[in-house]
Amino acid sequence: MLAESLNLEFINLDTEIEEFTGMSIAQIMAEWGESGFRDVEAAALKRVVKASDKVIALGGGSLLRAQNRTRAEANGAVIYLETKFKVLMARLLKDEVNDRPLLTGELESQLATVLDRRAEHYQSFDLRVSTNDKAPAIIVRDIKFLLGRFYVRGMGAGYDILVQRDGFDSLPELLRTRELGAPVCIITDENVASFYGDRILTVLRHAGFGYAHPHMVTLPAGEEQKNLDSINKLWRRFIAAGMDRKSTVLAFGGGVIGDMSGFAAATFMRGLPWINVPTTLLAMVDAAIGGKTGIDLPEGKNLIGSFHPPRLVLINPQLLATLPMSEIRSGMAEVLKHGIIANAELFAQCAKGFEAIKPALPEIVCRALAVKVEVIEKDPFEQNIRAALNLGHTVGHAVELVSGFKIKHGEAVAIGLIAEARLAERLGVAQRGLPKEIEEALRNNGLPTEIPQQFAREDLIHAMLMDKKKAAGVVRFALPVKIGEVQVGVAVNNLNQVFEAQK
Ligand SMILES: NC(=O)c1ccc[n+]([C@@H]2O[C@H](COP(=O)([O-])OP(=O)(O)OC[C@H]3O[C@@H](n4cnc5c(N)ncnc54)[C@H](O)[C@@H]3O)[C@@H](O)[C@H]2O)c1
Repeated sequence: MLAESLNLEFINLDTEIEEFTGMSIAQIMAEWGESGFRDVEAAALKRVVKASDKVIALGGGSLLRAQNRTRAEANGAVIYLETKFKVLMARLLKDEVNDRPLLTGELESQLATVLDRRAEHYQSFDLRVSTNDKAPAIIVRDIKFLLGRFYVRGMGAGYDILVQRDGFDSLPELLRTRELGAPVCIITDENVASFYGDRILTVLRHAGFGYAHPHMVTLPAGEEQKNLDSINKLWRRFIAAGMDRKSTVLAFGGGVIGDMSGFAAATFMRGLPWINVPTTLLAMVDAAIGGKTGIDLPEGKNLIGSFHPPRLVLINPQLLATLPMSEIRSGMAEVLKHGIIANAELFAQCAKGFEAIKPALPEIVCRALAVKVEVIEKDPFEQNIRAALNLGHTVGHAVELVSGFKIKHGEAVAIGLIAEARLAERLGVAQRGLPKEIEEALRNNGLPTEIPQQFAREDLIHAMLMDKKKAAGVVRFALPVKIGEVQVGVAVNNLNQVFEAQK
């Protein structure tokens, strides 16, 4: 299931051994003994463990030999599936035939002996996932959180999302294995360039091959840059850099840079491949995932755009160390949004405020982005359920627009989340008390909770009607039902109701 979910090849080491020898494991054990079996196993492991990515199911004793363990760990991550004795017993008793050579005889005592002998070995693995009473799908999800690896299907060819520390060092290899060609054009903004521009350029230059001469376009920072003038600049720079359909656009920045780079890539020569290396929390958990690209018009946000999925999203949470606290807060609004949509546990974790989850940031990033991945896989082109991701955004985009983009996207989403929760309560969609719960979580994260009084209702209503999510004049909201559940397509004919629902 893990291999399927990550779009990787799957190898079961026992099957590999049986196919290679033409004998069953039980036969090998009977004829050659455990030590003979371990020799064949070591040879099989050597054959299958190679640099290319795959999922390998190891036998419980495969890594007892130090040489095997070193080989496996040098080539990838080893996950130990931790399971209680009682659960293992129950599973074994379900087997119709006991064909496990090491567990012949009295099952309970045999199992206890084997586990006892291997206890220290099993305890020594750092990457552990407990399985016990969890459904297989949940175990797979937990392994993906631990690995920081996801695969997004549904739009185009599908792509990996990798959450890893050495974000840049592995870049050339990741480009090469995806056959992403040179020249590479890095698009970034002035802030990101000042912190990390040299580092990313150096990595590519040292990579040699075609990547040794990367181009970098540094745009001024800010939402007001997300317009056609910037796209025009990018197109012209692509021409100057000699880019063609085999070249690679690399978005390196927050959601503004990602949206624009993707759109410039989508439209230049009818589509260049691109990858996204997001640098803000908001972009890591939301904007970088899903293939939506675009720019704003003075009349509204994201009115021009296209679906053009990246070929890879490479996330390094360590880049958040330089992100101003106001931007972290903004990202937390989207993290909380994802919790409200589909992960009550994530919401509860984050409701206490950013300081409480700071040590677990990489894991939070994984959990939050996983919500988006699940939603967009079900509905890549926003025919129905993907609209859930617009939670808080109908009011949020209007607030952002009316503020002249002075209010940050995430702050506007926070205002939208609570305003729409109050609307949902008023319409009888939300459970009573939900707005209070959301308000508290937003406050704990230093986020605003009220529509600024100075904003005229007519302006906000006009902005909501302009929002691209309206169909045939009716504004359809995604509204929260409770933490972890959202109802999409709730038609609201009279937008005054939004304001009447507020405090
Ligand atoms: N395509 C989508 O599906 C999608 C989804 C959600 C939001 N968005 C879009 O994302 C945009 C908002 O993105 P954002 O919040 O990332 O804003 P942003 O891109 O403007 O970045 C925020 C600020 O942080 C700075 N910055 C970025 N990374 C930094 C780092 N590591 N260290 C220091 N400074 C850094 C930037 O220079 C900028 O000043 C909006 O335009 C929104 O419409 C798109």
